[in-house]
Amino acid sequence: MTRDSGLTSALCGRRVALLVTGSIAAYKAVVLMRLLMKEGARVRVAMTKEASRFVGEAAFSAFLNEPVLTDMWSRAGEPHIELGEWAEVMVVAPATATTIAKMASGVGDNVVVASFLAASGVVFVAPAMHHRMWLHPATQRNVRRLKSWGIHVIEPVEGELANGQRGIGRMAEPEAIVARLVSHFRGQKRDLAGYRVLVSAGPTEEPIDPVRVLTNRSSGKMGWMLAERARERGAEVILVAGPVALRPPEGVRCIEVRSALEMENAIRAHWQSVDAVVMAAAVSDWRPSQVHSSKIKRGDRECLVLELVPNPDILAGLGKERQGARPVLVGFALESENLVEHALDKLERKKVDLIVANPTSALGGDENEAIFLTREGAKEIGRLSKGELADRIWDEVRRLLKSLRNRD
Ligand code: CTP
Repeated sequence: MTRDSGLTSALCGRRVALLVTGSIAAYKAVVLMRLLMKEGARVRVAMTKEASRFVGEAAFSAFLNEPVLTDMWSRAGEPHIELGEWAEVMVVAPATATTIAKMASGVGDNVVVASFLAASGVVFVAPAMHHRMWLHPATQRNVRRLKSWGIHVIEPVEGELANGQRGIGRMAEPEAIVARLVSHFRGQKRDLAGYRVLVSAGPTEEPIDPVRVLTNRSSGKMGWMLAERARERGAEVILVAGPVALRPPEGVRCIEVRSALEMENAIRAHWQSVDAVVMAAAVSDWRPSQVHSSKIKRGDRECLVLELVPNPDILAGLGKERQGARPVLVGFALESENLVEHALDKLERKKVDLIVANPTSALGGDENEAIFLTREGAKEIGRLSKGELADRIWDEVRRLLKSLRNRD
């Protein structure tokens, strides 16, 4: 982390992918990498073949623990996309007109654009090209398209270009690029720093026999969002996850479970050491009374009756055993009718601090509709993306935690 630039450590610990493409400004990407590292960022680099005509791979790899990615194919014959999934911040610098065009139209035929297409974090692009290429309507349209997707374009500056002419097209200086990243992240809240939280997510799977299970359609996305947002806001996060098709989020301790009983054990091992428990998991209320040790054969039976026994209500168990007001307990209530009435009943019955009530009509997709119920009353939240809803839940949890702190 540097202090001499006058910048604080807003990039400290952040996972930054630096993607270098074929422009004369590629040599400046080495300086950019060094500055990012001085800010405390964890940097990984990928470069196109064209970039290596201007700067050698060794200029980067000498400072890195990980190899520089130059080929879009991994040894297993899969395209390299893990860099995109790993990075919290992606910086394409320098970005040529061709790279910008490929990004804008989704042509992932090199390691840089393939990584970009798999990006899950914030993307910054620092163009570098001849001024006529920059001003061409095709480039301007492509830049506008990137901006419309929320990509941050760090505009090129006026200056002497590679051919000795002057004009707008020079890549912004590495110091200016770092300053832009720092100011972006400085604005981001770190208001959960110092808190430990536990989030449960996904469905549970209740075994019937060695090949069959009883489960539900929870995607796990809401819990994942909650875990990611809490981590971004500085919390230490434990995610207890039922079987879902999502990769564990970076920087989060993920405990994978299958059945409700396994989920209960995992939660009980940690719940007393955390400040808040958010139960976003869709726990199966029932499980087969016996698990057949061998596969149930169809035979010639007319029907098969499965006997189910209730699973423990994990959240209600925590509410009952909690001594004092910690941890703050949050539950969800998915209801097809009488939303507020049923959710209020859950708030009381499970002895929790907040119920996030969703109508079943809000199921699926990336959006959710909610009403927050606390002892103070109901708050309409309306329809939001799962990310925004996760932030609103953490705002509420933080408010509850602060009021506890004032009481302590
Ligand atoms: N929950 C739990 N353990 C269970 C069932 C639910 O901890 N066995 C939690 C869920 O994670 C959720 C909240 O309790 O945060 C409410 O879940 P929901 O399924 O809506 O409530 P139930 O108590 O199962 O009530 P019902 O299905 O009858 O509406």
